[in-house]
Amino acid sequence: MPSSDFIALSDYTTEELIALLDLAKDLKQKRANGELYQPLLGKTIAMLFEKPSLRTRMTFEAGIFQLGGHAIFQTTKLGERETVPDMARNIDRWVEGIVARTHSHEAVLELAEYADAPVINALTDDLHPCQVLADAQTILEHKGSLDGLKVAFVGDGNNMFASWANLATRFSFDLTLVCPEGYELTGAAHDYAQTNANGEYSMTNDITAGVQGADVIYTDVWASMGMEEEYQQRLKEFMPYQVNESMMAQANDDAIFMHCLPAHRGEEVTHEVIESKQSVVFDEAENRLHAQKAVMVHLMK
Ligand code: CP
Ligand code: NVA
Repeated sequence: MPSSDFIALSDYTTEELIALLDLAKDLKQKRANGELYQPLLGKTIAMLFEKPSLRTRMTFEAGIFQLGGHAIFQTTKLGERETVPDMARNIDRWVEGIVARTHSHEAVLELAEYADAPVINALTDDLHPCQVLADAQTILEHKGSLDGLKVAFVGDGNNMFASWANLATRFSFDLTLVCPEGYELTGAAHDYAQTNANGEYSMTNDITAGVQGADVIYTDVWASMGMEEEYQQRLKEFMPYQVNESMMAQANDDAIFMHCLPAHRGEEVTHEVIESKQSVVFDEAENRLHAQKAVMVHLMK
């Protein structure tokens, strides 16, 4: 695998992503067996976070420890106290890897440009590749394959959907964004998926057309981190797109419900759906650990 950072799923080929998913499965098994596996022994990884986190922080810190390494977590605003290139060239002298969660996607690209150490995107306003890699692992566990599936992402055309659009260019499944008018994905990930998606790639405002026959119903918060001032307006516009039991009934009988979390019950999903047998949200959360360990082993071993 040639890629020396993990910034977008589209930086990796299908074969490379399959190798990461195989490794994630293997690492999950090792942990279940209680097997000590410490390829990062003696290595230090810096974690730079501009935004809050439960899953990403915990799974990276736990994962780094389990692999024998040491994590330094720092809440920071990139580019505020010193420039991103300066920060990158400092940190690069001390550690073997950088995990960054930022508002600006360019900040992560700039870190990667100026640091020789591998940089992992732990979410930007544009993309969340670690989450979607863990989601792919979860789908493989529940459905056996991504190929041939119909995935309906119901909600905002945001960083999560953009990473799903990237994944759709590497595996053969249909991907539809079901959203209120004006919340479609635009920009690089959309343009790339439009010409490179393997299955059908579409966006619709029509709920029934979007979710009928879906194998996976995915949702995310309506107002992402940094969009707090739009929250009230979005609440009104997205309410018809809430994933509830009547929406799930339009999907396939064996459809699974997915959410990257945190969830706002009563907003993008009802309590009944997220607590239902179809919900695999905690499997997704668990797989963050294994998928990210695979990324770190690949980049830093
Ligand atoms: N899904 C996810 O990335 O969760 P956190 O924001 O809590 O890290
Ligand atoms: N779209 C959400 C994802 C949180 C994991 C956000 O950016 O806040």
